Amino acid sequence: MVKKQLEAAPRAVPLSVVILAAGQGKRMKSALPKVLQPLAGRALLKHVIDTARSLEPAAIHVVYGHGGDQVREVLKDEPVSWALQAERLGTGHAVMQAMPNVPDDHIALVLYGDVPLISRSTLTELLALAGPKQTGLLTMVLQNPSGYGRIVRNARGRVQKIVEQKDASKKELKLGECNTGVMAAPARLLKKWLKSLKNNNSQGEYYLTDVIAMAAKDKIAVNPLVTANVVEVLGVNDKTQLAELETAFRRQVTHSLMVGGVTIVDPARLDVRGTVTHGTDVLIDVNVVLEGNVKLGDRVRIGPNCIVRNSEIGDDTEVFANCVVDGTVIGTSCSIGPFARFRPTSTLASGVHIGNFVEVKNSKMGEGSKANHLSYVGDAEVGSRVNIGAGTIIANYDGVNKHRTNIADDVHTGSNSVLVAPITVGAGATIAAGSTVAGEVPAGKLTIARARQTTIEAWQRPVKQKK
Ligand code: UD1
Ligand code: CA
Repeated sequence: MVKKQLEAAPRAVPLSVVILAAGQGKRMKSALPKVLQPLAGRALLKHVIDTARSLEPAAIHVVYGHGGDQVREVLKDEPVSWALQAERLGTGHAVMQAMPNVPDDHIALVLYGDVPLISRSTLTELLALAGPKQTGLLTMVLQNPSGYGRIVRNARGRVQKIVEQKDASKKELKLGECNTGVMAAPARLLKKWLKSLKNNNSQGEYYLTDVIAMAAKDKIAVNPLVTANVVEVLGVNDKTQLAELETAFRRQVTHSLMVGGVTIVDPARLDVRGTVTHGTDVLIDVNVVLEGNVKLGDRVRIGPNCIVRNSEIGDDTEVFANCVVDGTVIGTSCSIGPFARFRPTSTLASGVHIGNFVEVKNSKMGEGSKANHLSYVGDAEVGSRVNIGAGTIIANYDGVNKHRTNIADDVHTGSNSVLVAPITVGAGATIAAGSTVAGEVPAGKLTIARARQTTIEAWQRPVKQKK
């Protein structure tokens, strides 16, 4: 797939991002803080941090709330600095907590930790409207603006102020243009404005939105950008909204896969929780989940109800229904499943067949090898053209330690055989059905390890005794 070239935005003014994440999210009814709720497998706040990072800012500051230690802990590896807002006194107060660490000559871009789908391209557009003497403000036009701050413009269309729903006059309430909460302002002026915020409003809060009127008063242009895609600025407050944004995100991801040429049988039934790269003529059937980093070659087909996680699937390989593929590199022209399970870390060469109810873990399988039915292949090095018979189990675990098994090329293991590891099976060896082998199995020979079949000639079935 040809990735759109990311333009290295030549930015005259350095950027600091401030992400507000101090909200508790009571309506989530969850022990997990709101900004850690997963959307497509990633915390809401992580989406915002990732998008912020794509802008290559000098720094990202996350304002977290009282009791937000879990947020810091979960995202401790993120390249962000943390600012505690001990008391939730409003959005203006929240931004203030980060400002001491933002240099005066920076543009401060304010984002919300619970607005996950904001895009890099929208933010790039907004940043182009901000500078040392101008502020960019992201707005949206809604049919039902209830609840949002309203953008008040003058007769010439210049933004004058933002009024919150609860403080708005009847006339102002009729305005359809709303504040998204996202703004880009020169740090030096923003600091000054924030210092003179008052909380004499209906909610007793320090509103970030009040800086807009201050900018207008200081003759600093407020340049509005009306968002074309409202989904980007929707916040998440409860599980219903979370599911709505999950759907919106799914739509975006499947759309871009389809634009890239992937056939998706039903885009509403494919979830991508990570990154997918793919070749041409890939087909993905219904109820598939792709997680982490997934790489699909040309003409790969994935059947219904499969989960593929952190794996690579080679050209012309077909994965049939109901497979779980985790941490595995599957070669070209393989046939997988139905009902197969791969655990990390396994590698299959080309032309391998893995059939139903086969589990493969931490193993390698050479070219053209097969395990078609009901087997466990664990901690094994399997050569080429090996046939693992139905019901073969590699007993890799002695109850304390895991041991490795080496199976050379052209080996056939009989049905229901058990290979007790550590064990080496020589090239071309055949293990008879029902054998339990624990010693070395020599190359090129038939090894049988089971009781010889006998028939008791004089045996008679017992008969029921009369009382
Ligand atoms: C805010 C805006 C409103 C806008 C709306 C868009 C203000 C005063 N109002 O309203 O104009 O239309 O967002 O959704 O800015 N937060 C903190 N600390 C606080 C308060 C809030 O971190 O003390 C965070 C929240 O967690 C949230 C964000 O800031 O991520 C917005 O807060 P929220 O209470 O949702 O703002 P609204 O009242 O909806
Ligand atoms: Ca809100």
